[in-house]
Amino acid sequence: MSKKYFFAITNIGNEKLLKTEMEFRYPSWKFAYSRPGFLTYVGPENDDFPTELMMARVWGESKGKVKEFPKNFKGFFLKLDESWDWPTTYVIKQSQINLGSQPLMVLVAPDEVWQGELVPQAYSLGTVGEVGLSEDFQAPSRAYLKMLEAAKAFALDLKAADKVLELGSAPGGITTYLLNQQLEVWGVDKAEMDASVLANKKYHHLNNSLEKLTEREYPKDVAWVVSDINLPFKVVMKHLTPHIQKLTKLKGAVITAKIEKPTQLKEVLKIKHELGVKFKAKVLIKHLPSHRQETALLLLFK
Ligand SMILES: C[S@@+](CC[C@H](N)C(=O)[O-])C[C@H]1O[C@@H](n2cnc3c(N)ncnc32)[C@H](O)[C@@H]1O
Repeated sequence: MSKKYFFAITNIGNEKLLKTEMEFRYPSWKFAYSRPGFLTYVGPENDDFPTELMMARVWGESKGKVKEFPKNFKGFFLKLDESWDWPTTYVIKQSQINLGSQPLMVLVAPDEVWQGELVPQAYSLGTVGEVGLSEDFQAPSRAYLKMLEAAKAFALDLKAADKVLELGSAPGGITTYLLNQQLEVWGVDKAEMDASVLANKKYHHLNNSLEKLTEREYPKDVAWVVSDINLPFKVVMKHLTPHIQKLTKLKGAVITAKIEKPTQLKEVLKIKHELGVKFKAKVLIKHLPSHRQETALLLLFK
């Protein structure tokens, strides 16, 4: 029987989690090869390629290791480490990004190039391989980048004056991104917020925990819920769901799910499914370049 090959790119350090996810979600695909941040699989010719992965940024058909760099290759070029140089003197032209599969060259190590067909998702970021959005930013934490990337990847319709309920807001990286977009934020955290956030009149601090939070503490017309709490996802959702259920003006929720153990992958998928049913909402899941062992869930109430 003939076979086909698949590749997936993840953030370095998450290879084990991606392997586990592939094992239980796409068992007909067998692990073939890996380099830090890059995994390949082999599967039966008549199987579809995996369509959704929690622990990969981008993926597609693998066409194998390149022995000689093709002279007239047209497509995308992706380096797993920005500091590496392409082992070629050919001019590298980046193509326009469209949906649908497109040729790709991946530099998986300084001297190792793989060729494939990239399958960008509707919510892939605008850069091939999704190199983080490294815009200059001033914020109390790098979580600013998580929110920036989630806003771009999920094309969030954040409008000035939209009200946000933010859980786990300290020290204020995400808050800073939201305030920069002119949103008004109610932040819940017992830890200390950065002075720059506290000085902003559009920021209201709730010195509380998610577990003890009551709906009287924030406005009824909250448009967005953002959660970035370092507790197991199951615990966060247990306490967050009753709040979400009562917010009738909610446009969407962005919730980070920290995944430290392979068993939590199944748990997150199960909750993702249950949320979709309970809220009749579209639920998307995305591993972002700035994430470590995390993925972001977006619930869109439409
Ligand atoms: C990853 S940090 C958040 C970073 C923050 N979003 C930012 O942008 O700077 C996780 C935060 O969750 C908070 N946290 C942990 N348990 C919590 C709970 N039960 N309720 C509310 N916040 C909690 C912690 O105090 C911590 O500040």
